[in-house]
Amino acid sequence: MCGIIGYAGDKQAAPLLLEGLTNLEYRGYDSSGIAVLNDGDISMKKAKGRLKNLFELTGGGNALKGTTGIGHTRWATHGEPNDVNSHPHLSGSGQFAVVHNGIIENYLDIREFLIQKGYKFRSQTDTETVVQLLDYYYKGDIFEAIGKTINKLTGSYALGILSVHENGKFYAVRKDSPLVIGLGEGENFIASDIPAVLKHTRRFILPEDKDVVVVTSSSVDIFDMNRESVTREPYTVDWDIEAAAKDGYPHYMLKEIFEQPKALEQTMGTRLFGDTVRLEGEKYAKGEPNPALKAKDGFRLTERDLENLNKIFIIACGSSYHAGMIGKYFIESTCRVPVEIDLASEFRYRRPILDKHSLTVVISQSGETADTIAALREAKRLGSRTLGIVNVIGSTIAREADDVLYTFAGPEMAVATTKGYTTQVTVLQLLGLYIAEKKGTISAEKNARYLAEIAALPDVIRGILGNQTQLQQLASEYFGGDKAFFIGRGMDYALSLEGALKLKEISYVHAECYAAGELKHGTISLIEENSLVIACATGSELFDKTLSNVKEVVSRGATVIALVTKNSSGMEKEAKHVITMPAMSDETVPCAAAVALQLFAYYVAAQRGCDIDKPRNLAKAVTVE
Ligand code: F6R
Repeated sequence: MCGIIGYAGDKQAAPLLLEGLTNLEYRGYDSSGIAVLNDGDISMKKAKGRLKNLFELTGGGNALKGTTGIGHTRWATHGEPNDVNSHPHLSGSGQFAVVHNGIIENYLDIREFLIQKGYKFRSQTDTETVVQLLDYYYKGDIFEAIGKTINKLTGSYALGILSVHENGKFYAVRKDSPLVIGLGEGENFIASDIPAVLKHTRRFILPEDKDVVVVTSSSVDIFDMNRESVTREPYTVDWDIEAAAKDGYPHYMLKEIFEQPKALEQTMGTRLFGDTVRLEGEKYAKGEPNPALKAKDGFRLTERDLENLNKIFIIACGSSYHAGMIGKYFIESTCRVPVEIDLASEFRYRRPILDKHSLTVVISQSGETADTIAALREAKRLGSRTLGIVNVIGSTIAREADDVLYTFAGPEMAVATTKGYTTQVTVLQLLGLYIAEKKGTISAEKNARYLAEIAALPDVIRGILGNQTQLQQLASEYFGGDKAFFIGRGMDYALSLEGALKLKEISYVHAECYAAGELKHGTISLIEENSLVIACATGSELFDKTLSNVKEVVSRGATVIALVTKNSSGMEKEAKHVITMPAMSDETVPCAAAVALQLFAYYVAAQRGCDIDKPRNLAKAVTVE
């Protein structure tokens, strides 16, 4: 996890680094630090805890003078969060300072090697071995030192490097960790993510693995491992600064919940045309993709691909996995192709059976989740065709998957995903309908109905957002409880999993989800007087079954909040509260219903005074296993 930033320009670096880190804090927030180069001296400040501590310590950055610098916000992996383990790390000689995002897997071996050579270590981090190794290899040629250092590293890294020998300049190099280069006027940046520097530029370069990047105020030069100069095409992002700002909302999460109608319109915009889905995009329509983005948006199945396709694997983590579950139910029912779904962390080690006749769909908002990347690589290794459903443009998964369908949700800053999730569900459903139509496994009438309902989702969600008072009231009534059970069947089970995750991760209420049919196999023994049960029963097909389960928990004293659709009846007699969604197909309503669960979770967390955008122990992009 962690976020890194670097600046070289004509302004004071420290305030700019702090400002950039503010937009990276979602990646990790247990400590932060900056280092600034000034006339051959590196000055450095670090602070445990939230970034505001570093702001205070440095007087908003004014305490450090110099126009070149690097910064870091940390999500601790090696060593507890404290000032010593915070980045930047200095080499023992003080010649180098390094910020790092990623994991150096062989750091203990390197540390041992360096201790033998007389190096002393101050921290428990893997990163300190990198900076000491640089120092060890430095014999007057920093390129050589960087080259030798990265040849010795196993693992993932995005590094920003300052050297006392190189005024007005810093270096960056990445492997399997995100890094963008922002091209400004008289100033240039590096960052883990675009929003960190969006205020200063919209032009970015995405360096390749092991490119060595040399950044000054007036130049960005990139070299490969053979020290040959290489060209990486810049591209321009069309996000505006507001897209990455809170825009008057108290939290990014609430803003992003409210952005869902627009996000979904963007997701569908270039793909849904009346009763047809087109996924080919520019990639297949106009030949070669833009080399700067490597895998530009687009997916195509030929007749031959269709004949050969025998199984689809869906792989993801967390909420993306929950979106994938909705995708599995939808694709199986519409395309009649078996779909296996796996958590990425399980898939990568379970020796899965797949081959060139399978399609592996990996889903990731960030495109940087370590387990999902590893699963993608494993699927590729086994010969499967791969498709990434990704939000962050140019992220590792977007670049490495054979094809990519971007969700186009815009930047998602809150740690808990909202618009990332609903746009993933929508892309999966469009994918299902694209395949089903080609395979002839869906009637024209059903296809048209689904597509009309998907197209109407932004307005349906606007309606839910406009009627949020009921959810606010429910949150005020129940925020004090310490546990909640979510139940559902079929797609409602997938929806309940997401509802429970949203609630637990931001409010710390112990929320657990069970397939409603499983209650009697153990869980029901936990139900007692006043247990809170949130029953998702939006699907008409399994409504009566879930209603029976609701009766079972009510008769054991539970208080039930039920989520249903307009045309269901009978729930109001059992549940204490009923949240009603518009009448829609069983398959399309979960995406809308998720918004109600997001709002409930948000308002419970707000009532409990939680740090909603940055829940404890979490980070937005999980770049460690
Ligand atoms: C929960 C949440 C996480 C992510 C998971 C995967 O609100 O955001 O569960 O869904 O960490 O992240 P991505 O989608 O970036 O691979």
